[in-house]
Amino acid sequence: MTIDLGALDDFESGRAYPVDVPGRRLVLVRLDDQVYVLSDRCSHEDFPLSEGEVDVVDRTIECARHGATFALDTGEPQSLPATHPVERWDAVVEEGRVKVVGQ
Ligand code: FES
Repeated sequence: MTIDLGALDDFESGRAYPVDVPGRRLVLVRLDDQVYVLSDRCSHEDFPLSEGEVDVVDRTIECARHGATFALDTGEPQSLPATHPVERWDAVVEEGRVKVVGQ
């Protein structure tokens, strides 16, 4: 199942956006033409990653609660206190729309 998350142009590069899909909240980060989608829930504690800062050079997102960082392309933690990855979703851009494959 493919889920439409909206128009690519509606997402500013370098910012984190919470997006809802049935039963889940995800965080979408656009870096130019690349789009990354992770679960919007830090793996350290239950806190939304979409409130954190995006590092456009390292391609990471930092949890605003305790500062753990996660790789946008894999969801793997890059710094403590998180030690587990966050769930990563495959995102594609088709005809100017951002889509993820539902799980
Ligand atoms: S809740 Fe994210 S680092 Fe602690």
